[in-house]
Amino acid sequence: MESVSNNAILICRVLLPAGRDLLAEAGYELREGGPDATPEELLARAHGCAAIVADPTVAIGPEILDAAGPELRVVANFAVGYDNVDLGACRERGVVVTNTPGVLTNATAELALGLTVAAARRAREAEDTLRAGNWTGWDPGAMLGLELSGATFGIVGLGRIGRRYAELVRPLAGTLLYAAQSAKPDAEADLGADRVELGELLERSDVVSLHAPGGDATRHLIGRDELGMMQAHAILVNTARGTLVDSAALAEALGAGHIGAAGLDVYEREPGVPRELIEAPRCVLLPHIGSATGKARDGMAALAARNAISVLEGEAPLNPVS
Ligand code: DGY
Repeated sequence: MESVSNNAILICRVLLPAGRDLLAEAGYELREGGPDATPEELLARAHGCAAIVADPTVAIGPEILDAAGPELRVVANFAVGYDNVDLGACRERGVVVTNTPGVLTNATAELALGLTVAAARRAREAEDTLRAGNWTGWDPGAMLGLELSGATFGIVGLGRIGRRYAELVRPLAGTLLYAAQSAKPDAEADLGADRVELGELLERSDVVSLHAPGGDATRHLIGRDELGMMQAHAILVNTARGTLVDSAALAEALGAGHIGAAGLDVYEREPGVPRELIEAPRCVLLPHIGSATGKARDGMAALAARNAISVLEGEAPLNPVS
């Protein structure tokens, strides 16, 4: 068992040098799990740590919090999403939770735009055809997709990333709709976005892009009924959290032609990708790379480290999760 130290930070699992160097320079002892660390290995290293830096694939619940023990003061999540962290369990133990908003906004919104275009223009099928040697030449009727100029874009969740996606698609959009828990007067004034209920958004949109947080409150926000409200040519894009979409219902909707296409970067039980989605037609699948640019990931690593340092040095966290 590791020794108790109010100077030790558990890295679950990997922190890029942009963050690791800040922690090391500040004199902290780093206990790095490594890319292949199992939950058991992380638990064994947690004892006596004052901070945990966690990536979004690591569940931070009572077990690891208790393994760390009373020295633990902060969980600095290396992500803007924090559905991997049991906030109630942290609160009960007086442990501060932080995240990394802002620094990955552009990267994730840009990937959502890329998935939108790829799904609209059937990029996966087209490339598969070519790579399999089945391309027989330019064909006026083959691979017809959806033109996005003038389309109605529906954005579900207009936080930082949803708002940036809205800015990116604004030049293309004929109409920009959004569904959100609260009105966003700035977006309405600056982007001409109209707030509507989710049902209306699904019925009217040619493209539906999801930017809501994960967690119990939004689990299967898009299920069989909601997919049934979408138009037969419409595209669903998800770069937020896999739990927002009932993947079995989505695969069924794609198979039955109830919706046009999907572009997904996130899944319900990562790194597992449901077989039915892999086999579904008109579906572009990426392995959770929304924030995977050097700039965004360095920014996330540095921010996670700075959040941990702030709390450990008795200052207010930069990005507390409430
Ligand atoms: C996040 O920050 O929540 C992203 O999903 C990580 O890529």
